[in-house]
This record gives sequence, structure tokens and C-alpha cells, in this order.
Amino acid sequence: MDNINLGVPIGTTLDRFIKENQDEFPYATGELSQLLRDIALAGKIINREVNKSGLLDIAGSYGQQNVQGEEQQKLDLIANIRFIRALKNGGQVCGIISEEDEEIIHLNQNCRYVVAIDPLDGSSNIDVNVSIGTIFSIYRRISPLGGPVQAADVLQKGTEQVAAGYILYGSSTMMVYTTGHGVHGFTLEPSLGEFVLSHALMTCPEEGTIYSINEGSWHEFEPGIRNYLSDCKKDKLTARYIGSLVADYHRNMLKGGIYLYPKTIKNPHGKLRLLYECNALAFIAEQAGGMATDGHQRILEIQPHAFHQRSPFFIGSKKMVKNAMNYLI
Ligand code: AHG
Ligand code: MN
Ligand code: MN
Repeated sequence: MDNINLGVPIGTTLDRFIKENQDEFPYATGELSQLLRDIALAGKIINREVNKSGLLDIAGSYGQQNVQGEEQQKLDLIANIRFIRALKNGGQVCGIISEEDEEIIHLNQNCRYVVAIDPLDGSSNIDVNVSIGTIFSIYRRISPLGGPVQAADVLQKGTEQVAAGYILYGSSTMMVYTTGHGVHGFTLEPSLGEFVLSHALMTCPEEGTIYSINEGSWHEFEPGIRNYLSDCKKDKLTARYIGSLVADYHRNMLKGGIYLYPKTIKNPHGKLRLLYECNALAFIAEQAGGMATDGHQRILEIQPHAFHQRSPFFIGSKKMVKNAMNYLI
């Protein structure tokens, strides 16, 4: 965190903040800075689509399933297209892995960066005006420049992320990201169309009182999870679950809490995807002083073997995550 320019005041635009803190980026060639700006631009475009979705015919299901057999919403697809276009036009990315596409999307072979994205997270909340998000991870490619992106470029451990973040389309729209030097949050000022620094060096309380899980799956949980949840109730913790990972995580990071998506009978490996849901949030959580595991292992150290691999996910306040892990065999 030493390199962060804390002299930058609240209200500084994202563009200026990135510029002032250029030194924090590995290799500091300006490419990663540009890539973050491209992601912010895509976020603004998606924010516009999300805000007007009730007025136009872009809410609801598209009538198709994605590669994981999940119903695709129109906005899922619009967000995916918008992101890919912004990253293609931005010219810093050689390949993208997206929740909405089975295979790698190949872009400019001469670029250094690979992006993993969940273009729109929390699909079930799109039609009902509840917070949704975008999640992204950025890696440096391993394979040489000038050739096609390889699977190994995408299948890197979370520890190799050079930057990660999310955009939360909530009561206000925020972009939160880290480059490994702390976590910073920027709120979209709608009349200016600019993200401005609103939350510098965000930290997650070590302990909290919120637990977030879809308890409707109670009968599908392993006994350890059920025991844990029973104790949460005995301890009079507060239950909060939106069903949008970004929003649930963001709240818990600010207030102190734990988010759990364990394995279930239906999803024996958990539901959330390692590459474009878990890793980004795990990087942010650790940078904010929190913790993220699959119940046994640090999320960031899991070696991915498939693009759309799932993982059980326990993330949030350090003491709460450690405590939950004690219940698992
Ligand atoms: P996505 O909309 O990208 O498919 O992700 C939805 C995820 C996540 O946002 C949320 O926390 C979780 O699915 C909710 O799952 P349940 O409906 O099983 O609780
Ligand atoms: Mn998602
Ligand atoms: Mn999604």
C-alpha cells in the first residue's frame, strides 16, 4: 500500500486517480491503466442499459441458456457484448473468458492482458430492480506476444491477478478495484458521467454480525454448514441475502459479515465460478483485510483446470470465515 497516493482527495475522478497512482502498476507501461479505464467505460455503458431496462424491451429472459445451462437474460447478453466491444476497442486485451461464452474470446494477439468477466452478476434480480453487478479479473498472459491466447493464460491461479474489481449497479453505481495496493471505491456521479473516489483504502472489519447464504438450500447442505447456521441463529447474527454476489459481498465488506455459497446436492462443487466470480472478490477481500476460502483452501491458491470451474465460496470478515471453516470436515 506504500505506493498509493493518499494525497489524492475524495472526489478525484477515476481517470486522475489511475494516472496519479500509475506507479502502483507492475511494469507501468500505461497499458493496465488504459485497460481499467476501458472497464470503467464499459461499466458506464452497462449502467445506462440497466437504468433504462424497464423502459425498453430489454428486461427478461432471452429464451436461451448459457454454457452452464442457466437461463440467459437479455441484459446478460447485452452486458457481455458491451464489455467485449469496449475491451476490443480499448486495444489492451488479447483474450477474454466470460461467463456467457464457452471458449476464450480472442482479441489482439499483440496485447499482454487476459480478462475474466462475469458481465452481469445477479441475473435473477434484473427484472425486479434489485442491485446487480459486474465482476472482473485481469492477468498478464504467460504465452509469448504475437500468438493466440492459450488455455494456460486463462487458467492461472488467483494469486497471479494484477488487478480485479467489480461494478455494483445499486442505489448508486460504484466501481471498486484493487491492483494489490489496497482497495478503492469510486461512485458514479451521474450528471458528470464520471466515477469519483468516494471510498479510499476500504477495509473489512475483522468481525461482523451479518451472515449471507441462501438458506432455502438447507436440506442440501452438509451437516457442518447446518450446524454453523444454527449457531449463527443462537448467536443472534443478522441474516441478509440479496442473491447478487457483488451486492452481498460489498455490504459485508463495509459492515462486517460473511457470505457463504457452500456445495449442495444440486451443485456438488458449489455454484460460483472460480475464474470470474470467486477470484476477483477473493483478491479484493484479502486486500481489504478479509479472507476467502473454499472451506478448506485459500481461493487464490486453487489451480484452475477448466474455464467455468465452480468452487464453494466463503468470504468476508476474517474471524467469521475462520470460524465457519471450523465446522467443515
Ligand atoms: P449469475 O447471475 O452471474 O449467474 O450469478 C448469480 C449468482 C450470484 O450472484 C448469487 O449470489 C448466486 O448466484 C445466487 O444463487 P442462489 O439463487 O442459488 O442463491
Ligand atoms: Mn455471477
Ligand atoms: Mn452473470
